Amino acid sequence: AIDLSSLTRETGLTALDYGFVNTSSTKSKITYIDGEAGILRYRGFPIDQVATKLSFVETAYLLIHGNVPSQNELENFEDNIRRHTLLHEDLKDFFSGFPRRAHPMPVLSAGVSALSTYYEDSLDPSSPAQVETSTYRLLAKLPVMAAYAHKKSIGQAFLYPDNSLSYVENFLRMTFGNMAEDYVQNPVVVNALERLLILHADHEQNASTSTVRLVGSTDANLFASVSAGINALFGPLHGGANEAVLTMLAEIQASGESVAKYVERVKNKEDGVRLMGFGHRVYKNYDPRARLVKDSADEVLNALGVNDPLLGIAKELEAIALEDEYFQERKLYPNVDFYTGVIYKAMGFPTRMFTVLFALGRLPGWIAHWREMNLDPQTKIGRPQQLYIGEQQRNLPGFN
Ligand code: ACO
Repeated sequence: AIDLSSLTRETGLTALDYGFVNTSSTKSKITYIDGEAGILRYRGFPIDQVATKLSFVETAYLLIHGNVPSQNELENFEDNIRRHTLLHEDLKDFFSGFPRRAHPMPVLSAGVSALSTYYEDSLDPSSPAQVETSTYRLLAKLPVMAAYAHKKSIGQAFLYPDNSLSYVENFLRMTFGNMAEDYVQNPVVVNALERLLILHADHEQNASTSTVRLVGSTDANLFASVSAGINALFGPLHGGANEAVLTMLAEIQASGESVAKYVERVKNKEDGVRLMGFGHRVYKNYDPRARLVKDSADEVLNALGVNDPLLGIAKELEAIALEDEYFQERKLYPNVDFYTGVIYKAMGFPTRMFTVLFALGRLPGWIAHWREMNLDPQTKIGRPQQLYIGEQQRNLPGFN
């Protein structure tokens, strides 16, 4: 890599790089991706090992602290998360104030931003103790807020967290349980959600993580930075793709068009139609996360007895595309989002919650990157250059 840090000062030149396609904004030890080979590793561990052997909370610890926790470290980490699961009662009222039809993503980002008002001790990001507490508060409260955002949208009462449950079980109960009866956990659903959250837990300098780092580089606290990350994830080009895949599959089903015909339309670029959930800026090979998601799709639908024709359409699309020259030449393979929507739908999540689930999964990555940046003595306030292409000096009337 060429270090451009002092290019402008030394040569007067500046690099123009739309979308930062070629610019490393930082060094990082957290996640390694080789897009050509289809490799993803968290802290050096291959993603398939992490997703099949660790829980989501262990993965969070791994990303944040750099190693797999010992039994003691894990118990301590989980205890600290459990200690912070309750939301301040006034903050709960805050959720009631949103319109019934509010999209849960802005509700979530507003809730996280509001944490700075309840915990003013978080405002000093130079205090390691405060960073630690803010880390636990975020990990503990985001699932509660996500469940409340959902409950608000369906007009049901909020459920308090139940700390006897695991992280994922607690979230499922708060989301799908109600006051009238006990929520029965389905282990297949719990395990699949653990896995999906793990697969979304970090992906190095994507748009939302870069946003968290940029905001954090101003010494803004963890809550303000993560709230900004949630807003970046809200965009359909980033976190919204899982929703777009489901819409595409439903449209194919409703139109009665054959899958092969749809693929032809994609190849002919009719009306700019793309195969959603295919292709990736970084992966030019099978996204290693997509394989694991595909396995989960079968497991979850079988366990729930759901026979969703959309899964069949997705598999047929994949099979046709992988055999087709158009997709082979362009190195277009299914990405992590190709099968997630079908699984979330089978679990009972409304489409609008899909990106919220992405945010829950990505939280440990955001925290890990914020903390890495916070501790790095080389961190500078993020301040990109521009190439000015506007008017040179002009004069208003009366000035010469
Ligand atoms: N379907 C059909 N053709 C495609 C697709 C697709 N999904 N993706 C790329 N192509 C084609 C383009 O038309 C282009 O063809 P051309 O050379 O004939 O012009 C070629 O492949 C290269 O495409 P680019 O847009 O230059 O690739 P880029 O790396 O910029 O885009 C992206 C990556 C945005 C993910 C793209 O593949 C896409 O739009 N995919 C569908 C949306 C999607 O699934 N997004 C989720 C990404 S994963 C995530 O965010 C977690």
